[in-house]
Amino acid sequence: MVEHPKRLAILTGAGMSTESGVPDFRSQTGLWANHDPMQTATVQVLEDQYDTFHAFYGNRLERLQAIEPHNGHAIITEWQKKGIVSVIATQNVDQLHQESGSENVAELHGNLREYKCHDCREEVKQKDFIAKKHCHRCGGKLRPNIVLFGEQLPMQTWEYAAKCIRESDVLVVIGTSLQVAPVNQLPELAPNERIYINEEIDTPIPFTRTIQAKAGEGLQRLSKEWHI
Ligand code: APR
Ligand code: ZN
Repeated sequence: MVEHPKRLAILTGAGMSTESGVPDFRSQTGLWANHDPMQTATVQVLEDQYDTFHAFYGNRLERLQAIEPHNGHAIITEWQKKGIVSVIATQNVDQLHQESGSENVAELHGNLREYKCHDCREEVKQKDFIAKKHCHRCGGKLRPNIVLFGEQLPMQTWEYAAKCIRESDVLVVIGTSLQVAPVNQLPELAPNERIYINEEIDTPIPFTRTIQAKAGEGLQRLSKEWHI
């Protein structure tokens, strides 16, 4: 019988959410197929073309209202409940891991549920962002609490995820093209087993095992093998 991990680190990307109806970025049907990220997801666009920025993120937020976690999220939550998961680190901003009951998710790129003033960082309500209001404290522009291209990742979250991955006996990476730094540097911190579940296996990063499958199916397979 294959022993199940004791210190399992999980790292997910947009491919973990496509089975819930959230488009990813770089596959044929991805968001960046018809949006240039440099024309939508940067601080410069936020500051100089706020209408474009607001329309793009307002639309992404709207899509989130109707989505549900899938069985892959549920499997990870189950593993966490059994106490074998040290971290669920995600690049996703949709909070589907939390919606499926996972806790202390390390949101490396922030999330689309929290909003703040771009200038004074005052926390604001999502409805004020949707209504395109200005900051009541300084008149600044409102934005989601996500990491835009070129912005610093939340350092504490990053450190925590890196530490758990360094100390992991197994790292499972699911649904990410691993093309975006610095998250794509995390897998190589894992000293032992590194498993990659992805629809396309085309990464130079050395994994001990790759499972070319949909996220839900790949997680199902591991859950069966590990009897958890
Ligand atoms: N199951 C498994 N793999 C999938 C599935 C699925 N159901 N759907 C898509 N994939 C794979 C795609 O083949 C692709 O390799 O998931 C990967 C998703 O890669 P990207 O679209 O590049 O998403 P991600 O790696 O999360 O992007 C990282 O880039 O745009 C920024 O900030 C954004 O967090 C994002 C970051
Ligand atoms: Zn402000």
